[in-house]
Amino acid sequence: MASIKDVAAEAGVSVATVSRALNGHPSVSAAARARVLAAVETLGYRPNAVARSLRTDQTRTLGLVISDVMNPYFTELARSVEEEARALGYSVIIGNADERPDLQDHHVRTLLDRRIDGLLVSPTDGGSPLMLDAVRAGTPMVFVDRWIAGLDVPVVRSDGRAAVRELVAHLHRLGHRRLAIIAGPAATTTGRERVTAFQEALAEYGLRLPDDYIGQGDFQATSGRRATERFLDLDEPPEVVFAADNLMALGALDAVRARGLRVPEDLALAAFDDIPWFVHTDPPVTAVAQPTGELGRAAVRALVDRIEGRPGESVTLPARLVVRRSCGEPAAPPAPANPPAPAGPSTPSAPTAPAETAAPSPSPVRRSKP
Ligand code: HPA
Repeated sequence: MASIKDVAAEAGVSVATVSRALNGHPSVSAAARARVLAAVETLGYRPNAVARSLRTDQTRTLGLVISDVMNPYFTELARSVEEEARALGYSVIIGNADERPDLQDHHVRTLLDRRIDGLLVSPTDGGSPLMLDAVRAGTPMVFVDRWIAGLDVPVVRSDGRAAVRELVAHLHRLGHRRLAIIAGPAATTTGRERVTAFQEALAEYGLRLPDDYIGQGDFQATSGRRATERFLDLDEPPEVVFAADNLMALGALDAVRARGLRVPEDLALAAFDDIPWFVHTDPPVTAVAQPTGELGRAAVRALVDRIEGRPGESVTLPARLVVRRSCGEPAAPPAPANPPAPAGPSTPSAPTAPAETAAPSPSPVRRSKP
């Protein structure tokens, strides 16, 4: 493999000039830069990133530790993180913690050993000593989606409270009064926050969330199926199940079908997190949608800010409700104030409910500490 010395010889310049030319240094003339680039092309030279890291003490690499790479929400998050990082000149190494604190620690340790420039984490738990030490040692870090309280680490997340309130309003309008939730693990902020948001929204409608109507899940499909089976075995089963993530919603759908029952006629279903195949399930699933791609991009920008010595702020973006058919027919869109006259003498067509209705687009980014 060609070395930097070979490139210098081929271009007729010094090794230092090759280095400066490749790093875009302004002191290199356009002619010298062109000769260097031609030599790089001819010899197939690849710069040695390890040598450069040793020189600059930077690897231009970010670590991303996510809780479950098989969950489509985190898959989309990882995609947007990689895209934004690439746009800013960084590579990403992903560690999948699989909801296990020991694996999370393994990835954090490995990434720190590899001298990543900064770390994005969606924590699986309340934070291990290793993670807390890394923060205290000044490792640039940003929490995304989930977070650990009490640390000077920016948090990039969405706030689902308004969308959950809208969901409960929608369910109430459809006549549902017995509403249950399949919760995520209480060790996670997202596990706790979604139950609280649901409880608060129910209270606004004078509804309670009895203990029997809280299923303990682990953000995986099997737990959604088991919780739903238990709900269906109650003397007074709920009319609606709200699954706190997309995988548990799929498990709930399975449980209803396995009993020969139907959604929404026998049990209505809603999910936190919209995923592409909720449009294709039968029925399409009503969901609280997070701006997942934007969260990933904002998290990378906050981390790169921290790495490059800028403050790097917390960002909270609103989620929104997407109404489909899994809770009953969505309300028809409001009639225009001055309805247009019918087009002609033929019989007017029957009004049709939209396949999907969404709340207005999110309000502007709010920057705040959670
Ligand atoms: N777990 C599972 N799904 C999710 C989460 C989470 O913490 N956040 C957003 N979607």
